[in-house]
Amino acid sequence: MSKYLITGGLPLTGEIKVSGAKNAALPIIAAAMLAESPSTLLDIPKLRDVTNLCSILRAMGAKIEREDNKVFLDPRTLNSFEADHEIARKLRASYYILGVFLAKNGWARTSLPGGCNIGNRPIDLHLKGFKSLGATVSLDHGIVEVKSEKLRGSRIYLDYPSVGATINIILAATMAEGKTIIENAAREPEIVDLANFLTVMGAQIKGVGTDIIKIEGVEELKGAEHRIIPDRIEAGTYMIASALTGGNVFVKNVLSEHVKPLIAKLHEMDVDLEEKISGVKINSTKRLNAVDIKTLPYPGFPTDLQSQMMVLLTQSDATSLVIETVWENRFMHVDELKRMGADIKIDGHSALIKPCKLAGAEVTATDLRAGAALILAGLSAEGETEIRDIYHIERGYENIEKKLATINANIRKIK
Ligand code: EPU
Repeated sequence: MSKYLITGGLPLTGEIKVSGAKNAALPIIAAAMLAESPSTLLDIPKLRDVTNLCSILRAMGAKIEREDNKVFLDPRTLNSFEADHEIARKLRASYYILGVFLAKNGWARTSLPGGCNIGNRPIDLHLKGFKSLGATVSLDHGIVEVKSEKLRGSRIYLDYPSVGATINIILAATMAEGKTIIENAAREPEIVDLANFLTVMGAQIKGVGTDIIKIEGVEELKGAEHRIIPDRIEAGTYMIASALTGGNVFVKNVLSEHVKPLIAKLHEMDVDLEEKISGVKINSTKRLNAVDIKTLPYPGFPTDLQSQMMVLLTQSDATSLVIETVWENRFMHVDELKRMGADIKIDGHSALIKPCKLAGAEVTATDLRAGAALILAGLSAEGETEIRDIYHIERGYENIEKKLATINANIRKIK
């Protein structure tokens, strides 16, 4: 089992480059399976979740070659439409297999997905979408099976703008007969990236990035080349790290419109920030104002930056309030932060954060973003922090310790 050892207190300085977005790469890799010919994807991050999804698809017969951040995917050799249950349970995004193979083959089966331990993770909205397109769905001992003779476009209202359900319905509807309209759709940039890839493949999709998406089914899709958008959550994590350590860091390869809610909060906190074409520069030496945060679907403040932001708020000048509305159990980092001296009180979905000095301690990453928050806390704390269970962090951050070390962080990975 590997751990991170961090000695805190150093201001971060220099330039750090953001990788391709995990949550765009995963559905786009799955979408490449819809085509009749191979696709090439660029800026695919080297992450455990990506490796697991590729393993699932290889076991189904696809030919996948990875060369650094480039991935070549050939779906022509697919010969099975059932995911390896063991691997599928390891990542949430394995459910995209359902949308893809329902569209392509009219049948698919996988185990109910796993992923982070951040709350009850139902897929009822995905299944409601598939049913509305004419599929039958069965759930038996944690295995989901979807099938349909012929998918037909329909009008689907999502009770909640779920990212995964919006993506799965888009995937299934690309080759359904006629028009599908998704209302109250999620608007996340990763969905726009997927739709851009599908459009180059030949799909007819309008309205992505708004809450009404229209898809006109086509008969066939062809392979395409596509570069994945930068990861806005990785970018936000490094922006917060710079503000937290009183650093001066240029976070490169960021689309600043994707991190607007974070930029707005950093401005409110009085962090000096400059938006450039290729990234965002953070220079923070002043006292930080306390601010309140409420997580919401895009373009609201992202839940995936809530834990990292909470660490920053421990270093502000007054009490702050964080309200988590997306996931029911996303305060697991709080107990670990308390070991480091944080003064945080949780009441249901809210957390009250009082200013404090953080001190190094032995802590455990309980999920991906909680783990990222602990790295940030370690960078700002006095003394040494040891983080266990870092495999959670490696699911979503490419080479995080190596990248941070290049901007003056004292962080080492040890076996
Ligand atoms: N929900 C339902 N029913 C459904 C689907 C979702 O009730 O059928 C609920 C969930 O329980 C949750 C809320 O809706 O309370 C949001 O879920 P959503 O479907 O939007 O999330 P997701 O697609 O499962 C993706 C990201 C998450 C990110 C969320 C919200 C991927 C692989 N995961 O999850 O990323 O937190 O959107 O932005 O794209 C992460 O990267 O750390 C991470 C957890």
